[in-house]
Amino acid sequence: MTFTITIPGIIRLVAVTTPDEVLAVNDASMVQRSLSGRGGLVNRLVAARFAVFRSPDGDIWPAFRDRPDLLRGERQTALEARLSNVEPLLRRIAPEIAELGDYVRDGVAHRSTGVIVQQAVGRLFFADYAASEKSYDAARILQSWLSAWPLHAFWIRRSGALQASLDRIMDLSRGDMACAHATALAVDNIVRSIKLMRRLARHGDNLAKIGPQDALARTLRAPSHVVREVRDEGSAGPVRLRARSLVLLAVESARRQSADPSFAFFAGAWNRCPAHGIVPALLAEVWQAARTDTRGCT
Ligand code: HEM
Repeated sequence: MTFTITIPGIIRLVAVTTPDEVLAVNDASMVQRSLSGRGGLVNRLVAARFAVFRSPDGDIWPAFRDRPDLLRGERQTALEARLSNVEPLLRRIAPEIAELGDYVRDGVAHRSTGVIVQQAVGRLFFADYAASEKSYDAARILQSWLSAWPLHAFWIRRSGALQASLDRIMDLSRGDMACAHATALAVDNIVRSIKLMRRLARHGDNLAKIGPQDALARTLRAPSHVVREVRDEGSAGPVRLRARSLVLLAVESARRQSADPSFAFFAGAWNRCPAHGIVPALLAEVWQAARTDTRGCT
């Protein structure tokens, strides 16, 4: 289903929610990730939110780069290849997987789930990545920045929290934009899955009864939406697109309606997530770790 909101001077927006339409609009050549801010006040405000995800030397975080951007494509392919070494990477983050397994089984952990997940994701890039409450707070602030109401967003910027969070995430990521994206923004999808796993494990004998692949299918979550802009008027499948409209692709809603388990990662598309293989493997391992008691038997 598609919703369109047009209030001249204020907003021009189209929201797309079904799997076929999301894929068609995502694939349309007149739809881009970079936001000009034209189309109304709200379009301008949203573009200003996204503009902070670039480094002082002009490098842009990967999920805000346009499709034809050659550097984006090269980095995406290189990271996808690195992350396809699933077994060695899972061994590298075995301590974090065990901690998350304990949390899923018992509901307790020595530190917050977000910190553990952030450290696991960071260690996919750097074996010595060390997350902390402060670094996870920085991630939470950047996530809020993208969705906060204007007054809250004003405060996040005015208080210095926005810049401090960007600096902290970039320092820990050693300038690697994909690491910054993963440890600040993507991390939230995994945290949601772990919390859902915990809820699943609390009921009856689910932990013993449900296998890792089934647990994964029940708990994997996609970003609620991703944002685009229509550059030139046109159509994508049945969806009519007016120039300079903001586009909300409701990925999570579409994922729930899709039969394809990799929909959450746009796995067959130009913007496929480079972590489309490792994330499901990681989550399945966490469930398996939760099923394994402290004496090492299942
Ligand atoms: C449950 C976890 C995750 C989900 C559901 C997910 C999903 C997605 C989606 C839907 C996109 C496309 C966004 C868009 O086009 O605007 C994306 C892009 C991306 N993801 Fe993930 N992601 C997850 C975790 C990760 C992790 C752990 C990493 C890195 C280790 C990662 C790295 C990236 C990168 C670098 C891009 C940008 C790709 C490009 O160059 O276009 N993601 N992800």
